Amino acid sequence: MDKFVLFPGPFLYISEVNNHSEIKKSIVPFIRNHAKTLGEIDDPAEKAFSSYYAKNNTFFEFLHINGFLDHIIWNPLDSMMEQMPYEKNHVITKSNLKQVWYQYYKTAGGHHREHTHGGATFSGIYILHSTEPNKTIFFGNGPANQTYQKFRHDTHYLSEGHVIIFPSELYHKGFT
Ligand SMILES: [Fe+2]
Repeated sequence: MDKFVLFPGPFLYISEVNNHSEIKKSIVPFIRNHAKTLGEIDDPAEKAFSSYYAKNNTFFEFLHINGFLDHIIWNPLDSMMEQMPYEKNHVITKSNLKQVWYQYYKTAGGHHREHTHGGATFSGIYILHSTEPNKTIFFGNGPANQTYQKFRHDTHYLSEGHVIIFPSELYHKGFT
């Protein structure tokens, strides 16, 4: 009988944030205000207001002070690790958060071309505010592996309030 044997590889873990509406009420005004301090990136690779390039990461401090990191990062990550459908040979007891930023697609045609996140094991996206079907697409992973990149997964079925965790080397792109 044919079968797949699973090793860690391309996957998405999708988690619903229970107190999303409360969190949103607090974060959205912060972002709308903070984005005024940023210029809009507008080039073929990316069109967005992105705190990734901000000099001081006040967004991280804001999330940390308000306790949102547990809800949108650590709890989903813990659940994911518990439910991993792979055999483990040791328990992972510690994780470090390298970076957190927002992408605010404020104007029509906002986008972020295919990219991966270097220097991390897992990455995540919290869909904070969206009135349209989600437009993040994931591609088979491996920057050097062209064949895997021909496989894709469209997350149009996800509404705001969901966190998507994925291996950081997985290509993804977003557009509005
Ligand atoms: Fe990304």
